[in-house]
Amino acid sequence: MARTRLVIDTDPGVDDAVAILLALASDELDVLALTTVAGNVGVDKTTLNARRLVDLAGRPDVVVARGCAAPLASDLDEAGDVHGLDGLGDIAWPEPRTPESDEHAVDLIARLAAEAPLTIAAIGPLTNLALLQARYPGVEARVERVVIMGGASFAGNVTAAAEFNVWADPEAAARVLAGPWPITLMPLDLTHQATLGDDDLEYLRGLDTEVGRRTAAILEPYAAFHDQWYGNRDVIMHDAMTIYELLVPDAIEKQGAHVVVETGGAHTRGATVIDRRRGFASSPTRVGVSLDNPAFVAFVRERLARYPLG
Ligand code: BDR
Ligand code: CA
Repeated sequence: MARTRLVIDTDPGVDDAVAILLALASDELDVLALTTVAGNVGVDKTTLNARRLVDLAGRPDVVVARGCAAPLASDLDEAGDVHGLDGLGDIAWPEPRTPESDEHAVDLIARLAAEAPLTIAAIGPLTNLALLQARYPGVEARVERVVIMGGASFAGNVTAAAEFNVWADPEAAARVLAGPWPITLMPLDLTHQATLGDDDLEYLRGLDTEVGRRTAAILEPYAAFHDQWYGNRDVIMHDAMTIYELLVPDAIEKQGAHVVVETGGAHTRGATVIDRRRGFASSPTRVGVSLDNPAFVAFVRERLARYPLG
């Protein structure tokens, strides 16, 4: 089977890191680039973190290209309380060896899409993809699929109405979700079903690999944050849903839906209005609804165990 040509557009980010490590462990995916965006932390830090992660995975062939430093129409509000001030749990890292590309993220994505069909996993604010649409009109036709972590039907995580990636740049999300490309959206209603527990962190530590130890180390403060906000230490694997969907297509139940973003709103800016009524059942926009967490956990354990010992 042909490998999926993939760009991961990301703001690493602890759960971004898990998603990236899952993708880089998987031969079915030809991960061409990590393109970075401001989100969980500023773009200097997300770019540094992306370079750290490709080094950790032993994949210096994966291009790291810097993208947008600020949302389209608002100021960046970081999430250092969730991901640590450096965006990756504030543990010590070696100086990254993988260089940053000279090419802007958006130009790189357009070039890769022009070469052959491309899939994009978008796991940060959607600023880069909105700029891609604006700078390269018609680019959507050359993108096979966009799998996005973002939005929520029922409750947000930054405000009662809004999920972080959409709330961080609602204007961008509105444009991307209105674009003529096949979108699969993984909202909070789905991602909160995908969790790792303390036994999984213990499993990762016990792998006796650099990837296992570092993944467990960055998940530790993330677990403490979850304990404080959700009342237990189970860590939510939001961004990994995009990679899980690409690798195990039937694992996540999906529905057709019409999705729009609230860009105004006195109390609801950044909310996604997800219309799942029957009339939208065959919509090209699909929304993740449910999954079996034990199967997801087994998937994570197996893929992350593929990295070399040491
Ligand atoms: C999303 O926001 C970020 O903090 C996470 O990395 C994820 O992409 C969840 O709302
Ligand atoms: Ca993210």
